[in-house]
Amino acid sequence: MTPRNMLQLLPMAGHTRGNRSAATCHFKCGDACAKDVCNTSDNSYFRDIADQALSRRAALGLGGVAAAAVVVGQQLASAPSAAADNGGFGKGGGKLPFQAIAPVERTVDAVTVPEGYDWAPVIRWGDPLFSSAGDFDASNQSAEDQKQRFGYNCDYLNILADRGNGTTGVLVANHEYTNENVMFDPAWLEANPDEARLTAMAAHGFSVVEVRRDKAGQAWKPVVDGKRNRRIHMHTEFAVDGPAAGSDLLKTKDDPTGTVVWGMNNNCAGGTTPWGTVVTGEENFNQYYVGRGTPEEARYGISTEPSSRGWELTEERFDAKNAGYENEANRFGYIVEIDPHDPESTPVKHTALGRFKHEGANVTIAADGRAVAYMGDDERFDYIYKFVSRNKYREGDREHNKTLLSEGDLYVAKFNATSAAEIDGSGKVPSDGAFDGSGEWLPLLVRGTSRVPGMSVEEVLVYTRLAGDKVGATKMDRPEDVDVNPATGKVYAALTNNTRRGTDGNALADEANPRSRNRDGHVLELTERNGDAASLTFGWNILLVAGDPSVDTTTYFSGYPADKVSPISCPDNVAFDSVGNLWISTDGQPGTIGYADALHKVTLTGDERGRVQQFLAVPNGAETCGPVIHDRENSVFVSIQHPGDDGTWDEPTSFFPDYVESRATAGRGEFFGPRPSVIQVFRTTGNNGNGKGRGPKK
Ligand code: FEO
Ligand code: CA
Ligand code: CA
Repeated sequence: MTPRNMLQLLPMAGHTRGNRSAATCHFKCGDACAKDVCNTSDNSYFRDIADQALSRRAALGLGGVAAAAVVVGQQLASAPSAAADNGGFGKGGGKLPFQAIAPVERTVDAVTVPEGYDWAPVIRWGDPLFSSAGDFDASNQSAEDQKQRFGYNCDYLNILADRGNGTTGVLVANHEYTNENVMFDPAWLEANPDEARLTAMAAHGFSVVEVRRDKAGQAWKPVVDGKRNRRIHMHTEFAVDGPAAGSDLLKTKDDPTGTVVWGMNNNCAGGTTPWGTVVTGEENFNQYYVGRGTPEEARYGISTEPSSRGWELTEERFDAKNAGYENEANRFGYIVEIDPHDPESTPVKHTALGRFKHEGANVTIAADGRAVAYMGDDERFDYIYKFVSRNKYREGDREHNKTLLSEGDLYVAKFNATSAAEIDGSGKVPSDGAFDGSGEWLPLLVRGTSRVPGMSVEEVLVYTRLAGDKVGATKMDRPEDVDVNPATGKVYAALTNNTRRGTDGNALADEANPRSRNRDGHVLELTERNGDAASLTFGWNILLVAGDPSVDTTTYFSGYPADKVSPISCPDNVAFDSVGNLWISTDGQPGTIGYADALHKVTLTGDERGRVQQFLAVPNGAETCGPVIHDRENSVFVSIQHPGDDGTWDEPTSFFPDYVESRATAGRGEFFGPRPSVIQVFRTTGNNGNGKGRGPKK
């Protein structure tokens, strides 16, 4: 076997973010953090700155302990006083009272939940969506088999209950990427490299799974052969729409029309639209393609080197050096809209929302009825965007509403400071008491016309990063989820981290990104002018600057005492409960503050504004994704992505969620090793809000 004849099983040592698993860096992002900064533009923004100067089953002997009492290893010996002090249910309201758990050491291979809560898997990688597939057997995988099953590394998640008695619905989830090192028997992989690559392609994408429960408030279970069940993968046909559809920039040998694409790639976060479709972002798509060395490819991080998964060895479209495929990568990096209620519908790539490393999109309706989508480009020094539809939302007219993201105006965010002279990268709060300022949505495309000098409409939408550079957008610390709080209309943007801030000639700290070498990230709060999502100006402030306040003096929690919060790092996905508390899932927390990735609740109003309370921790190696807070039904759902990602087929480092002790003792449909899964966390004790103690049945 030569290295180019098989998938690279072992990620490259040293390519890590903090102490984050090398495997995660390699397979998830293509080692993006180890590579050069993509945004080398000297845009006007840069000059402005210069001017301004339960464990449930407790695997492997760890188990069965109530979470609040879980204390494992050295880390917690020095755990912050916050851990002891973060008890109490808080005043944030919501229907899920809990006592914050102590942070959990990253090597604990268990889901840790608060006292009085329990968890169960809803669906796992390999679970069948169709009865033709039968029980999962990881030793007998194939691409055709994987297309019948829940895919790998679930990220964006939602549970959409049908109208009526609340006992049926659909679960929707992205499958961002694959961990070949733990998914495949290396002997099989070596003997079948093409089938292994095709199986990995089939494990990417999206799942729609019908779910059922006995009655509202109880546990959801997947329905095999549900009428809406669907797997979307790298060979599903997508339509391209919007102003760049049919552009020469999108044409290939396989699609001379520039309007049909096969597959979507590396879909990370997403949102559910007010009209009930799902929008999902193609994120680190660059890592799957071999480029020709153009400046546009470089701006998107597309390398001329062989790709890590070697898909170009199986399908020539993944190598732009193959004649006729020069533009294949231009067909990825979009917001995709999927109708989960129509399994025959063609998913759509919306060029009107631009092309970049889309974390996801969240859609709201503006005061005048236009649809507004907020979007982050998850790369160091890249931008936050907003799309405003041309046409207006019509209540109940689903077919019309499904066209809203096809045409509209595209903007990119510029953040102005109030205390620029005081920002020195230390993270010190300015003398006016806040990191804050005004902001502008800079136009890229308005009423069908490019507002970017020297760029056509098609170029703005296909090379959107370059358009942002030209108009002077603010370089941000890796924008992840950007979402609207339905209770207040305020917009929350998670900036996950950026250790290059203020280093090596890169952009210096500014008031919206106030720390040099920002390892732990921060969260911005935006207030659109007049509360109108379609406004062209906004106010902003930093809600929190993340970290472990017991050892890091640069943290900030909107004035809430730092010794009374849970440590938090690398905010990624955001969600809201029924009364507007913010919930934040983290990705990469182990790399910086040393604890397992987590889900936190953050109170936004009242005298507890800024209070961070940890709700759960995920198993060894995993990140927390796609939180769904159904507090009225005593439930929280999360995707648990890449558990045990640094292990191997023969030597797993996580056994979540099956926790079988050997391959020989695995039961039917079980797996010896980790399985990315969606779990439901539910209350088992206490008051459900109706004065009766009950929780969903397992
Ligand atoms: Fe896939 Fe930006 O996280
Ligand atoms: Ca200020
Ligand atoms: Ca993410």
